[in-house]
Amino acid sequence: AAVYRRPIVLVAEPLGEAGMDLLASSCEVQSAQGLSEAELCARVASADALIVRSGTKVTRAVFEASQGRLKVVGRAGVGVENVDLAAATEWGCLVVNAPTANTVAAAEHGIALLCAMARNIPQADAAVRAGRWDRQDHVGTSIAGKTLAVYGFGKVGSEVARRAKGLGMAVVACDPYASQEKAQAQGVELVTFDDALAKADFHSLHMPLTPGTKNIFSDAAFSRMKRGCRVINVARGGVIDEAALVRALDSRQVVQAALDVFLEEPPHIEGHPLIGRPDVICTPHLGAATTEAQEGVALEVVGAVIDALAGLLSPNA
Ligand code: MLT
Repeated sequence: AAVYRRPIVLVAEPLGEAGMDLLASSCEVQSAQGLSEAELCARVASADALIVRSGTKVTRAVFEASQGRLKVVGRAGVGVENVDLAAATEWGCLVVNAPTANTVAAAEHGIALLCAMARNIPQADAAVRAGRWDRQDHVGTSIAGKTLAVYGFGKVGSEVARRAKGLGMAVVACDPYASQEKAQAQGVELVTFDDALAKADFHSLHMPLTPGTKNIFSDAAFSRMKRGCRVINVARGGVIDEAALVRALDSRQVVQAALDVFLEEPPHIEGHPLIGRPDVICTPHLGAATTEAQEGVALEVVGAVIDALAGLLSPNA
């Protein structure tokens, strides 16, 4: 029979305090930040569970180093593309996430970027800080009456749609998995990818990064958009072909972009073709970065990890 012991949980990235306290109530917590893959492999050998955010790659090598001891990987966020799911399955390790706690934060950041981009807030603020009062240089574009296309009508996408309707926008959504009833209930029209591209003045991306969505915003997609449109990405950098976006901006097919996520994170800021352009505003993956969301995510992921460990390591398991 299994002997119950306090499971050892390695927390490899910053986690909200309430989550850390909850974890400490039933587990032995080891914190380590900024580990290299080799260091993570060494540390994971004595852990029953590992908690990460988006900055740690949980590769096949990590599961191999653990030799099956690792029973649960908790991702303090939604996207699990930084965890090698195939390797986790092969080694019998569960992967759990925090699917709901940062929904509102991500939607709010999408709307914040949409408004900031439309009214040139970052550029205007930078000018005022530099001592200039250039009112003509920062004339924006109105949001009301415009059409927003939401790609991915899941938790975040539908919260963005709800808020955009409140701003007086017409909203269309593109999502092969969304139900017509859910869209209708929100006054949102479900359309095909091509229709969304063609119809919208603002395009906001909310799909997960999967083999099917990788680089879906390609030269071909940008060329089918309405000329002079604007793009917001708080999902994953990889859904946009970044070189294609540069070309679309250069040709003024897309006149502005607001990006919270990049193909490579952190991106090489110096010389990055999308960073520092006057027609692009950037934030460093802040979609989930509110105090409320971080506390919620920490509690949600810790709850999932504790539940999983209890099922796997309890004397009755
Ligand atoms: C998520 O997947 O939940 C977000 O990208 C937030 C994050 O990684 O911190």
